[in-house]
Amino acid sequence: MIRRFPDGFWWGAATSAHQVEGGNRRNDWWRFEQRPGATRDGRTSGDACLHYQRFDEDWALAAADGHRMHRLSLEWSRIEPEPGCFDAAAIAHYHAVLGALRRRGLTPLVTLHHFTNPLWIADRGGWENPETIACFVAFARFCAREFGGEVDWWCTVNEPEVLAFRGWSEGIWPPGKHDDSLALLVIANQLEAHGRAYRAIHEADRADADGDGRAAIVGLAKHWVGLVPDRAWHPLDLARAWFEDRVFNHAVLEAPRTGRITLSIPGAGSVSRRVEGLAGSLDYLGLNVYTRWRVRATGATPHVASRGAALTDLGWEIAPRILEPALAAAAASAVPILITEHGFADAHDAFRPRALVESLLHLGHAIEGGASVIGYLHWSLLDNFEWNDGYLGRFGLYAVDFDDPARPRRPRRSARIFARIARENGIAADLAAEAGLAL
Ligand code: FCB
Repeated sequence: MIRRFPDGFWWGAATSAHQVEGGNRRNDWWRFEQRPGATRDGRTSGDACLHYQRFDEDWALAAADGHRMHRLSLEWSRIEPEPGCFDAAAIAHYHAVLGALRRRGLTPLVTLHHFTNPLWIADRGGWENPETIACFVAFARFCAREFGGEVDWWCTVNEPEVLAFRGWSEGIWPPGKHDDSLALLVIANQLEAHGRAYRAIHEADRADADGDGRAAIVGLAKHWVGLVPDRAWHPLDLARAWFEDRVFNHAVLEAPRTGRITLSIPGAGSVSRRVEGLAGSLDYLGLNVYTRWRVRATGATPHVASRGAALTDLGWEIAPRILEPALAAAAASAVPILITEHGFADAHDAFRPRALVESLLHLGHAIEGGASVIGYLHWSLLDNFEWNDGYLGRFGLYAVDFDDPARPRRPRRSARIFARIARENGIAADLAAEAGLAL
């Protein structure tokens, strides 16, 4: 064994409802996809992976591969399709999903907001509207009461900063706006919602699903991205990289610790808010980590990959070291860290085996250096609908054939490699060699 992980380390994978389930027309993403040009390959989520029907088969794959935890999301628009009206069939469905996970020995980690909003929320202005905060908190409370007997691990919101910038600054996700000051407001409203949902979930979920003495363990998932100046000598690149790192990474990490939301973008204003109940609102911090970008203050593209670097199918730099600075930045949160997403778009599994093992060696190194990491959930179990990239980004441990109406799954080599790491709770020398690492 060249690397062992702490006892009880949570190994598993992650999915999100809209990306895998298929067949839901009640959320803002579905509506947005119908616009010509919304996705890069012109495809809509459609039936996605048919996971709404085939969830138990998918849990069987994860369980057979030694996963112990699975991160999934509950689709708000299915559970509450109209304000205050809860859909009995959708509720029964998610009870079946959670029951099936448990029967397969997988501990669920449930995300309550993974980018999608019911149409009625979107039509009232979505996260721009401060009333969405109370609506979301009510939904969180409902779910904590309804599903608390099956769920202990909760993730309130996924990547508030990514949702805000993609939807309100770049305009490539719903609602398709270009307004940085609104993007800041959208981050702030989601962070406030997190703080209030944290308290609501703890009040409503008193049922300890696994008998370990804790009924609710609540966090959020923060997307941490490396942002470095492209030209280290260029004052404008330096300044832009600093400001972006501040608003995207550090300000979001700080808010649930301090209770204060302080966000600003030069030229676009700022938001400063103290939120009651937000301070100390993390029982764990979820970190989603993929890559790093070099930041340029001039020219057409502000974010470029390092020159000569190997890139994923989506053009993101393959950066196996990146988990280390991510964990260093998150250390200030002073709570246990769970890697809630990390992975690579690689349809042919050409570089994923090696990049995955190399990344996990860096993760192990960080843990040895004192990082308090309790688990690693790979993005993703299955290839799925990758938002505006349509079906171009293939992140699955299992490949899904989206041209076949039956959506067959096929294990990639990475699934086998990851399974062995999960089962052995460590990385064996021969496995690292098999993945292509020269030690
Ligand atoms: C993250 C999202 C997830 C998936 C991966 C590739 O930002 O949370 O849904 O799209 O990126």
